[in-house]
Order: sequence, then C-alpha cells, then structure tokens
Amino acid sequence: MNAGIIGIGRYLPEKILTNHDLEKMMDTSDEWIRTRTGIEERRIADDQTDSSDMAFEAAQKAIADAGISPEDIDMIVTATVTPDTPFPSVSCMLQDRLGAKKAAAMDVSAACAGFIYGMITAKNFIETNAYKYILVVGVEKLSKITDWEDRNTAVLFGDGAGAVVMGPVSEGRGILSFELGADGSGGKYLYQDKYIMMNGREVFKFAVRQMGESSVNVLEKAGLSKEDVSIFIPHQANIRIMESARQRLELPPEKMSKTIHKYGNTSSASIPISIVEELEAGKIKDDDVIVMVGFGGGLTWGALALRWGR
Ligand code: UT7
Repeated sequence: MNAGIIGIGRYLPEKILTNHDLEKMMDTSDEWIRTRTGIEERRIADDQTDSSDMAFEAAQKAIADAGISPEDIDMIVTATVTPDTPFPSVSCMLQDRLGAKKAAAMDVSAACAGFIYGMITAKNFIETNAYKYILVVGVEKLSKITDWEDRNTAVLFGDGAGAVVMGPVSEGRGILSFELGADGSGGKYLYQDKYIMMNGREVFKFAVRQMGESSVNVLEKAGLSKEDVSIFIPHQANIRIMESARQRLELPPEKMSKTIHKYGNTSSASIPISIVEELEAGKIKDDDVIVMVGFGGGLTWGALALRWGR
C-alpha cells in the first residue's frame, strides 16, 4: 500500500502588501528585499480571518478535489505555528467545521518543515492500513506574530494555507522516500518570544546546507538520480537559499517551483501552495517525480520524493 496525494487546495488572503508598501512603514527598500530575498509582495489576512478560517477554505477545496466527503476522513493533521489558540487545535476546529465526524485530529509543530512532517505522519497511518484518508494542512497567519517595526523579519513573511488529502495510490506512485530531522541546539536562531526572533545569517547557513543535503538523500533512498526529478518544490524562504539547493541537485531553473515573489515565506503553507501553483501551470503530470524539502525553526527539516498520481 503506497500513500500519495489524491486531492489538493489552497487559500490566500486577498490583501496584497508590496515591498513599496513596506518602504512607507519602515527603513527598507524594494531593491534590498528583492535582491536579498526574491520577495516582491505577500498576502496578509484581515483581523477577522485566523488560521482555522484559511485552513477551512483550503481543506474544502482539497476534499472536493479528492472526490471524497468529509465523513470519509479518518484523521486531520495541521502543521502550524500560528494556531488560533494553543488549544483546541486548528485540526479540531476543522473537524467540526468540515463535519469530519469520524476524524481524529491533532496539530504538528515543526515550523516551516511542518507540512513534510504532517505528510510523513499521514503516510505511516495509511501504509499500515490503520487509516485510509488523511487531511494534511499547512497554514500560517504569521502576520499576527510579526514585529512590524523589525525590518529584519517583517519583510519576509506572509499568510496563507494549503491542504492535501492523502490516501492509498497505485503501486509505484506516492511517497517513495523521506527524511526528517531536528537540531534543537539551533533553537536560539529562530523562535517566537512575543514576535518572531531570528538570526538570519545562522538560519541561512543551516538552510543552504540542509536543503541540498536532504534533497540528495531522499533521491538516493528512492534509488533515483538527479535527472529523474521533474520538479523541485523547496520551502519558499529565500530565493538565494532555494537556488543553492537547486544547483546542488543540478536542475535547470524551470524545474524549480518559485512562488516566493508573490507570497513571501508562508512557513508550513509554502510547499502545498506551490504544488497547486505548479499543477495549475500544467507543470505536474502523472508519474512525475517531485522532490519537496523544508527547513525551519526548531531547528527542523524534512524532505520527501513522491511520484505523482493516484
Ligand atoms: O523559514 C525559515 C525562516 N527564515 C529564513 O529563511 C531566513 C534565512 N536568512 C535569510 O534569508 C537572510 O539572512 C536575510 C534575508 C534575513 C538577510 O539577508 P543577509 O544577506 O543575510 O543580510 P544580513 O543579515 O547580512 O544584513 C545585511 C544588511 C544589514 O546592515 P549592516 O549591518 O550590514 O549595515 C542589515 O541591517 O542589511 C540590513 N537589513 C536591511 N536593510 C534594508 C536587514 N534587513 C533589512 C531590510 N531592509 N528589510
């Protein structure tokens, strides 16, 4: 039994905050933000919209795309560091709002690697036949923990949600390999006090090393070579970090998903949002090999290789 993605959806708030808007709020420039990060604009949720609201919109689309009903869902796993409340979890809120009557529900806290952690959690329940359909969501309302007076962090983040329904898929498809990891000694480089606190240079160094290494590792574990990769979907944190991972995989630019210029860093939501973008652009076909990789606060990391299709 292989576990794969059978449905997908995303939600992005309508409000766009551009680099030029930020120039009016703090001592920064469009030029600095674009050249250092690749970000041009990001979406910001309004005061009435919390993480569970964005998650609900993305989840509804994923469930419809999978062609199942909420009652079919066995479990909900939401990756987020910005839940509406510490408890109840966003997953429990979704369980109620979706009417997923038989679903177990829990949140996963692994920052920007959270979506990969969630997918691997789901894979194991599905492949052991314990559960059939699992909803995995990545959602963040980072704007509510952003210090809008700190230019070191405020220019980087955005809000949004992505969701997948995972379930059994045909032989040879689905998740082929994965790697998860953590290094708690680096927790001091990226954490939440009241707001997001970050040592950008240290996170940058870690990310460059880890993204490349984990991507290569999952290919090796799956018995695949770099040429087998159809599309590379890295966590969208900084275009320079993404580019160094792409070069490590020796992939041409068109094989790397890039949504950071439009949405900034949406943490656990960035990978599923990017998958939808590539699907809509017609860049993912059945049997394509996709490598996804994320890293973030914890420090945490996760990567997987997946063969697309049901
Ligand atoms: O999901 C994981 C989350 N975090 C990350 O992925 C972050 C990883 N790190 C990075 O992406 C980069 O380190 C940053 C984009 C955060 C910073 O880029 P950098 O090339 O490492 O710049 P830096 O920290 O070395 O700062 C260079 C200069 C500094 O000025 P001085 O000290 O050289 O005079 C900063 O004060 O740029 C200044 N600076 C800014 N200038 C204009 C920092 N932020 C800004 C800003 N606008 N927003």
